Amino acid sequence: MKVTVRFKEPDICIIVNKEKIVEKEILIPRETIQKRVAELADQISSDYEGKEPILIGILNGVVFFFADLVREIRIPTMIDFIRAASYGSKKTSSGTIRLTKDVEMPVKGKPVILVEDIVDTGLTLTHIVRMLKDKGVESLKICALIDKLERRDMTVSIDYCGFQIEEGFLVGYGLDYDEKYRHLPDICVLK
Ligand code: PRP
Repeated sequence: MKVTVRFKEPDICIIVNKEKIVEKEILIPRETIQKRVAELADQISSDYEGKEPILIGILNGVVFFFADLVREIRIPTMIDFIRAASYGSKKTSSGTIRLTKDVEMPVKGKPVILVEDIVDTGLTLTHIVRMLKDKGVESLKICALIDKLERRDMTVSIDYCGFQIEEGFLVGYGLDYDEKYRHLPDICVLK
């Protein structure tokens, strides 16, 4: 099932010199996120019945989604993390991926689910998928909370997708702009 999100009226704004300036608006409220996370966890739980998959989160943005997802899954899982830097302090991708933390758990011969907060150009996932396949995983599926389409460069097949979004710079629920806004409980679009 695909859930597509459309923009709503701005509901967070700042006032400067009596002029209303939109700073960010809520795109996906926390209740909608939690409901969708539970649905993804249900699907993973039934697909991996009788197995013990390793969930690998791609830091840092994934932390809140990862913690919520893992705790909703009803089968035993193991967890590990990868850190891949791709963005600088700007709204566009540098186009380069730097692995700053590798997985620490042996993944050879294991079912692995790679968990990502957002897929944008697709460069990060393409790089990490290739690396995990080289390590000889038994199977590899991708779970991403947000599939954002406007700047996709690489074809990425997402097995468990939370929300598909056409465009916009998203912050909150782990997503940042220049390391800000990660703490917001809702997913917002930055203006
Ligand atoms: C963000 C996001 C994804 C990646 C997606 O990570 O968390 O990992 O960018 O972009 P792409 O599809 O264009 O490669 P970022 O490198 O900004 O680090 P962060 O998770 O710490 O915010």
